[in-house]
Amino acid sequence: MLLSGPPGTGKSRAALEKLHAMMLANPGARGLIVRKTLVSLGSTGLVTWREKVAAESIAAGPVVWYGGSQQEAAAYRYSNGSVVVVGGLDKPQKVMSSEYDVIFVQEAIELAIDDWEALTTRLRNGVISFQQLIADYNPWTPTPWLKARAVRGDTVMLHSRHEDNPVLFRPDGTLTMVGQDYIGKLDKLTGVRFHRLRHGKWVAAEGLIYEDWDPAVHLLDRIPIPQEWTRWWTVDFGYTNPFVWQDWAEDPDGRLYLVREIYRTRRLVEDHAKDILRLVAPGGTWAEPRPSAIICDHLLPPAALDQPRQRRQPDPVSVAPPRPTTELAAEHLVLMTEHQQLSLFGQIRAGQHRHKPA
Ligand SMILES: Nc1ncnc2c1ncn2[C@@H]1O[C@H](COP(=O)(O)OP(=O)(O)O)[C@@H](O)[C@H]1O
Ligand SMILES: [Mg+2]
Repeated sequence: MLLSGPPGTGKSRAALEKLHAMMLANPGARGLIVRKTLVSLGSTGLVTWREKVAAESIAAGPVVWYGGSQQEAAAYRYSNGSVVVVGGLDKPQKVMSSEYDVIFVQEAIELAIDDWEALTTRLRNGVISFQQLIADYNPWTPTPWLKARAVRGDTVMLHSRHEDNPVLFRPDGTLTMVGQDYIGKLDKLTGVRFHRLRHGKWVAAEGLIYEDWDPAVHLLDRIPIPQEWTRWWTVDFGYTNPFVWQDWAEDPDGRLYLVREIYRTRRLVEDHAKDILRLVAPGGTWAEPRPSAIICDHLLPPAALDQPRQRRQPDPVSVAPPRPTTELAAEHLVLMTEHQQLSLFGQIRAGQHRHKPA
């Protein structure tokens, strides 16, 4: 599980609290707090652990620090038999020779994919009913393999915000004294730094079209889409640049939900069309409402996109040359007129209110 968000939002605290609670609740459980190097772990992460999360247990006695030896990693030992090992991947034999129920990786961005996968093989202590690797990470850092894991669904990604941290914000959303000072500083930042450090947005150099995009608000778990909701499709034609198809559903309050998407380069429009039809009308019968309109970046697929298709080996049994995609599209699709499209684009630009939460 990845906790993604800007610094100071409470990612490490949340992970450590969970780790500690799991150790208290499950006698004999084994946890690991790990970072790329042991030195970096000591200076930051363990302070929160020692002074906040495990402070009471350490003061009252049930958790005792063991400093480690040549062979053994340092650890916090619980009176119920649970253990939290503390280590760095720079001394792998000390931490990787054991098995764990829960592992917390501080600053996952420092890890290589090999480290991550090696850690997952250590998750087999079996004392807790589930085994979990938790990591915190800043969303804009260049770790393509981590992002790919999250996109594939191999790793769950949760988003943390300053508003989640009670040191900074009260439950009613107003700032605490500490928050006024800290958030006040962040609010004075400009450009990419503001978007990243204040809101944890994945802002690349090109920037963001929707300034108020917030994954914590706009990224939902999959919900069943009622049949009555109006469907809209959008198409951005491309071959060298990606072809994009999106299937949107509009709820009764006018909010739009992205149901599914194709985003691929170097494929023909006709192949995308077949894929889309297989999804929405398997076996030729529509399984969901037809779109009320298909909104395209061009009125018809640009003729240039048809050239790779025209070059494709002809079907040996067919004598007729392939008909241009534009012609086929005009025949089969209910496309909007240019006037309708312009009016709709205007509405979309004015339509940032659709980002407001339910
Ligand atoms: N839920 C919470 N309750 C109390 N203090 C919190 C909470 N969440 C975060 N904090 C405090 O806020 C500070 C920043 O949290 P931290 O977990 O280090 O953030 P991050 O890992 O996102 O940079 C720490 O001092 C932490 O103890
Ligand atoms: Mg942290």
